[in-house]
Amino acid sequence: MYNDKLQEIEVLIRARYPIISIISFEEDRVVNEIKKIAKKLDKKIFTWSAYRGLHAPDESIQSKKRTFPPSTQDPLESLNEVISFVEPAIFIFEDFHPYLKDIAIVRALRELALYLKSSYKTMILISPTLQIPLELEKDITVVDFCLPSLNDLSTLLDQILKQLAEDSRLKVVVDDQTREKLLKAALGLTLKEAENTFARALVISGKLTEDEIDIVLQEKEQAIRKSGILEYYHTDESLNNIGGLENLKQWFNKRSLAFSEKARAYGLPPPKGILLIGVQGCGKSLCAKAISRQWSLPLLRFDVGKVFASHVGSSEENIRRAIVTAESVSPCILWIDEIEKAFAGTRSSHLSDAGVTSRVFGSFITWLQEKQSSVFVVATANNIQILPPELLRKGRFDEIFFVDLPDDEERKEIFRIHIKKRGRDPGNFDIDRLVEASVGFSGSEIEQAIISSMYDAFYEGKEINTEYIVKSIQATVPLSRTMDKEIGELRTWAETRAVSASVRDGG
Ligand SMILES: Nc1ncnc2c1ncn2[C@@H]1O[C@H](COP(=O)(O)OP(=O)(O)OP(=O)(O)O)[C@@H](O)[C@H]1O
Ligand SMILES: [Mg+2]
Repeated sequence: MYNDKLQEIEVLIRARYPIISIISFEEDRVVNEIKKIAKKLDKKIFTWSAYRGLHAPDESIQSKKRTFPPSTQDPLESLNEVISFVEPAIFIFEDFHPYLKDIAIVRALRELALYLKSSYKTMILISPTLQIPLELEKDITVVDFCLPSLNDLSTLLDQILKQLAEDSRLKVVVDDQTREKLLKAALGLTLKEAENTFARALVISGKLTEDEIDIVLQEKEQAIRKSGILEYYHTDESLNNIGGLENLKQWFNKRSLAFSEKARAYGLPPPKGILLIGVQGCGKSLCAKAISRQWSLPLLRFDVGKVFASHVGSSEENIRRAIVTAESVSPCILWIDEIEKAFAGTRSSHLSDAGVTSRVFGSFITWLQEKQSSVFVVATANNIQILPPELLRKGRFDEIFFVDLPDDEERKEIFRIHIKKRGRDPGNFDIDRLVEASVGFSGSEIEQAIISSMYDAFYEGKEINTEYIVKSIQATVPLSRTMDKEIGELRTWAETRAVSASVRDGG
């Protein structure tokens, strides 16, 4: 993959694409690679930074003899130098993106692009974010310089081990299985981050074994948290903690090995994802958590709301980065809670940001449809009114499940689960009576009723019993009563569009 990117960049340069924007946090790595390309194509190479202006890459920071005057710190001045330079060359601009907000510079770049097309000079922008003004979209070609592949990381590890053996005569042997796990754990880190992490693990323990994999995983969690939109979600929930929803559980169970090598060898494509639609508090989020345990895959929570929060960068860039990060961690589960809320704006044209929302939504939908990677998406929604219909089209998700209020049998299980969770023996309770008293209650309301009855009993210095729970149930108005009409509509809607998550009589 990495070599493909280099080749792509080389082709673009040879085909005289005027301005190439490379997105990467790894400036050093990119500059080094472009140096090689420049050498191969016999072109001069120069770099620009706001601090140093235009300079030759090997020019010392203190050097009195400069190729270009210090006035090239000024971006417009540096663009003039690019035009005046007569030999074939590549000009790498580092962190130029803040200047793309200046209309004078945007205009200059447009004219420069036109000029460069018929020259043997190329301008390359390297920055960690993608922020291209509309006016320049046709002139700038974007290359996403992906994070290091397994192969790159493997080479890096070899280098580190070799260096270690030379420097301290410490010979660290890593068996093949541990090595593979270590490298996989490091996927998603930049080369520098991976290097630091491996080095840290070696310094802390002087070895690389299963134990050190945790150090690498911690580092990766850090990296993901820094991205601001994804969160590593730790959970102990298992399918056993879910009452009912047998259809859905069976679907999960059948796919337990879906991401294994064995499944690939058998010719199975990896599952894409599911959309869970349903009544509030009936276990949608719970399912997302449980499936991560069931499949032993990391769970990444995707906060789509933050995609549109301006303080974390442009929305388009945010969604792109979230997807890239999730893919670098794959196989994994990407959990998107309340997906309809984030994309609600796509339908209402009166919203001022409808354009941005639609674009972001569009790129997300395209990714869902075309994705080849082992990122399993679990999206949840409970408001069908604002759910964009495009999400429901075939090919986006493997299945759309409807999660309804639990029936008697399901409530029985839910009571047992939550009574046990509070350290009590369900055998000491009259479950049938509880089930009868709680018609129309969601799993979440049942849980709350048990907790509040425990408070009552505790306050009175007693042990909880059936009576306490029944009382607390009777004091609760379930959502199903206040939202009767909405739930009815939801059911009608789901009848033709979704599969029931529960096994129901006659259905
Ligand atoms: N089927 C169930 N079995 C066991 N516990 C349940 C079930 N459904 C809900 N609960 C309990 O209620 C809590 C809240 O449920 P959850 O967050 O999964 O609901 P949700 O469907 O995601 O609701 P919302 O639409 O409001 O996000 C769970 O953490 C769990 O403790
Ligand atoms: Mg939820």
